Amino acid sequence: MAVIEPWTPASWRSLPALQQPDWPDPTAVDAVRDRLGQLPPLVFAGEARALQRALGEAVDGRAFLLQAGDCAESFRDVSAVAIRERLKVILQMSAVLTYGATLPVVKVGRIAGQFTKPRTAPTEVVDGVELPTFRGHAIHSDEATPAARTPDPERMLQAYYQAVSTLNLLRAFTKGGFADLTQVHTWNQEFVTSSPEGRRYEVIANEIGRALRFMQAIGIDLGDERSIHEVDIWTSHEALLLDYEEPLVRRDSTTGDWYACSAHFLWVGERTRDPDGAHVEFLAGVENPVGAKVGPEATPDELVALCERLNPRRLPGRLTLVTRLGAGRVREVLPPLVDAVRESGVPVLWVCDPMHANTFVTPSGRKTRRFDDVLNEIEDFFAVHRASGTWPGGVHLEVTGEDVTECLGGAEDVREDQLDNRYETLCDPRLNARQSLDLAFRVAELMRAA
Ligand code: PEP
Ligand code: CO
Repeated sequence: MAVIEPWTPASWRSLPALQQPDWPDPTAVDAVRDRLGQLPPLVFAGEARALQRALGEAVDGRAFLLQAGDCAESFRDVSAVAIRERLKVILQMSAVLTYGATLPVVKVGRIAGQFTKPRTAPTEVVDGVELPTFRGHAIHSDEATPAARTPDPERMLQAYYQAVSTLNLLRAFTKGGFADLTQVHTWNQEFVTSSPEGRRYEVIANEIGRALRFMQAIGIDLGDERSIHEVDIWTSHEALLLDYEEPLVRRDSTTGDWYACSAHFLWVGERTRDPDGAHVEFLAGVENPVGAKVGPEATPDELVALCERLNPRRLPGRLTLVTRLGAGRVREVLPPLVDAVRESGVPVLWVCDPMHANTFVTPSGRKTRRFDDVLNEIEDFFAVHRASGTWPGGVHLEVTGEDVTECLGGAEDVREDQLDNRYETLCDPRLNARQSLDLAFRVAELMRAA
């Protein structure tokens, strides 16, 4: 019988690790790992536990998860304005969802660490030249030259420091007044204000303002009420680059447990969720809340094995399953998965990623998604969970606060011939600020009906 070795931050090394860079110089990687191991953690165990409690509430239908942000963060977007705009869109969407559904919204950003990408093909052709596919700024530059695409381990340190500064500003914005509910009007973007979604948002913002004044008027002292003046925005990214994640695992001094300290929440992607693979081994041993993407090819047995592996102690909030099945496939693929997981007895939070199975390339070569497909996948996700008596616990989205033209349609109706206007993403197409707000209103309606 095989001897089961105890889990350590490095135990993933004895298993096949897909999607790792081909570092040209392994000793340079070791040196970077040593340095990362000596740097302070980005997040603390107590915070990860607080998030897990919040997600546990969502498992039972008492809260809803909004997980949103970039497909791939960029080393070029470090300005305070860029970070503030990314925060604003999350705050705005969450105000719409909270108000619309009168449920707490757990807010998790794909932010402060989302610097690596799994890829389907190892190479891509840019302007007639075949190059290694772009795998994220923590590994190499996105510039289209062979030299720029050579993996450079020093970039893992840069990723760490950029995550530190992003998180520092997020903490300042969310605890220092910017995210105060009395500021709900200021989260509306200038270019959004005059649009139908923007005006609809203003109505909600006015009503929230009135509710606050009403409470004040009847003598409730809101001055010390933390939930009005501060919000928690938790950080998350795909735990893909294990040379980066391993040295950031730390033992919690109060419990002795291991925590991944690169973010509050980590997930395994569709390509690396093999229950016997290195990525799942890595996540199995840390105590953070974790997630797994679930694509249309996943079988019920495979999914149950993954649940047992990642949540053997059956803790509510520990495991989030993020289904990304494709518009038109949810009603056929999701019910057997939901049934199998329910029968296993492992509590999970079911979340819908309506982005990753709805990507296609236009004849002009732009990777895009249709707003209607995104909405359709969410609608069917709600319908299936309603029919099976499970709680549709959240959405996982690629969004930006900027006025980009990357996804088609929406109230603003971005057309195919407009995609080139402001196509700025480093990887997958994101919903722009207006499309994101529009989607938040639709999801709030679905939540009310659920
Ligand atoms: C992603 O979330 O950016 C991603 C690559 O997703 P998936 O693993 O579901 O394809
Ligand atoms: Co993506």
